[in-house]
Amino acid sequence: MSKSKKQKHKLSAKNADKHLLYQWSVQTPEFETEFMARAFAKRNDRAPRVLREDFCGTALNAATWVRGRPERRAIALDLDRATLEWGRLHNLEPLGPDARRVELLQQDVRSLTRPKADICCALNFSYYFFSTIRELADYLEMVHGSLNPGGVMIMDCYGGWESQQIKEEPRKVKGPRGRFTYVWDQADYNPVDNMALCYIHFRFNDGSEMPKAFSYHWRLYTPPEVRDALELAGFRDVQIYWDVETDEDESDYRPRKRAENCPGWLAYIVGYR
Ligand SMILES: C[S@@+](CC[C@H](N)C(=O)[O-])C[C@H]1O[C@@H](n2cnc3c(N)ncnc32)[C@H](O)[C@@H]1O
Repeated sequence: MSKSKKQKHKLSAKNADKHLLYQWSVQTPEFETEFMARAFAKRNDRAPRVLREDFCGTALNAATWVRGRPERRAIALDLDRATLEWGRLHNLEPLGPDARRVELLQQDVRSLTRPKADICCALNFSYYFFSTIRELADYLEMVHGSLNPGGVMIMDCYGGWESQQIKEEPRKVKGPRGRFTYVWDQADYNPVDNMALCYIHFRFNDGSEMPKAFSYHWRLYTPPEVRDALELAGFRDVQIYWDVETDEDESDYRPRKRAENCPGWLAYIVGYR
């Protein structure tokens, strides 16, 4: 390919798709669906079948869950019609007949769904949109009522003192269609109510930028607050999975009652029904 043709196809703010950039930057669906199945296996003698993906966005986890596994199905909920449509086109249609086993619902996650699921997930911290423990617990009650006995609720969580600092964290990403920079921008933090304002920007090697591609105004919950909300909603056992891997490029989440304090961390919270 000639140099000019190569340049033509380089990622830039003009030709990039923000949903693809997001998926390449912050989603690891194979890792997460495997983690969910393992968490389910800890308390159940059968394989999980139904996944409910809350705040699903483009439903990438639901698509990964059913792909090539005829016994599995998924229900994926999000309020945003345009994002769901993008997911239908880019993540479900390529699955062919497997896509029939994913039900996309433009619906508030604060609702009961059927069939009952074995696993429910709320990932990339989306439940942080509920700014009071009461709202969070009300949501989790709906999840509880939508899960089979033995079912699990999986949520992720981030924290550490760096999560309260006003700063930009740029990270270089090598996506399947080129390199770009993902920027996590912590624009505001209020210690009185723990509300944070964050943005995702994408920057490209040609100097162009997609500013504020995604915005989040949400409450930074701590693991014990989420545990309390899960217990209020009826979950009988809650485990905090901490990353015990020392190699920065790898991760290994294990249930922990105590962990070493550190500037920034990611954890999973698993509630058993
Ligand atoms: C941070 S994105 C998460 C996307 C995806 N779950 C992921 O793991 O990256 C948050 C999504 O939650 C959706 N959302 C926000 N409040 C919601 C609600 N009450 N019910 C359903 N979806 C909601 C938004 O439309 C948005 O697509």
